[in-house]
Amino acid sequence: MSVTVRVPAKVNVQLAVGAARPDGFHDLANVFLAVGLYDEVTVTPADELRITCEGPDAASVPLDRTNLAARAAIALAERRGIEPAVHLHIVKDIPVAGGMAGGSADGAGALVACDALWRTGASLAELLDICAELGSDVPFSLVGGAALGLGRGERLTPLDIGGGFHWVFAMAERGLSTPAVFREFDRLAEGREIPEPTASADLLDALAKGDPDALAATLSNDLQPAALSLYPELSDTLAAGRDAGALATLVSGSGPTTAFLTRDPESAAKVAEALRVSGTCRTVRVASGPAPGALVV
Ligand code: C5P
Repeated sequence: MSVTVRVPAKVNVQLAVGAARPDGFHDLANVFLAVGLYDEVTVTPADELRITCEGPDAASVPLDRTNLAARAAIALAERRGIEPAVHLHIVKDIPVAGGMAGGSADGAGALVACDALWRTGASLAELLDICAELGSDVPFSLVGGAALGLGRGERLTPLDIGGGFHWVFAMAERGLSTPAVFREFDRLAEGREIPEPTASADLLDALAKGDPDALAATLSNDLQPAALSLYPELSDTLAAGRDAGALATLVSGSGPTTAFLTRDPESAAKVAEALRVSGTCRTVRVASGPAPGALVV
């Protein structure tokens, strides 16, 4: 008996970052959109907790208890007073250390899979609570769709979306560490007054209308200057996508994956091909959003 759960990647269409808090985190206004690139987590009863991973980036996935999938299984088992005696197998399609919440997806996937396998009867509220303990982006990986995340990004309000948005994603040669990008944000912000992060009304309106041109005019990521400062070559990738006709270009979350909004699937294919031949990135993927959250398949 085993359970498999499919979980989407995300792109942040707005990431407004406040000043560093005393606990080291930053308050955010984080507008998440789930997109159709997926990891799959399969959980099977075993003698003890074990993780395996397959996929193009599998070699860079930690297979110990630091993996968010393992931490999710342990957290749920602890709450129920049982042993996390499972084999977790991850089929990885979301880029690793890419700013697309791949690790968070595996945490949410393992949680939903273990919950189904062990029939714990956990409520959605309890699952979201565990997700928030695991990481700021994990609750969104569970619910998917589109949502505004406040606080660390874990306090979610679902958003209405009027239509699908077509994206191209360019994966970079190396990864960027999220804490390092936030530290660089702090360094670049030194001596400046940082406003309270708030969601853009125009951006929420563009999402509600499903209007790609309006969304293109309002996309923003306060972490982008920090990601570009640590990884300057990303500006060549952004320029290649812009030249190929993307409506807007953006670093995804803390990067280094770059995201290109396009008007329709045809122009997405054109931008993807131009990026592939540009020599400015490792791989290129096309995906649209919103995509559903963690689902048993
Ligand atoms: O919550 P998560 O474990 O994903 O966060 C990883 C790191 O990213 C944190 O340790 C912190 O350095 C940074 N972070 C932050 N503010 C947030 C979310 C993450 O500073 N709202």
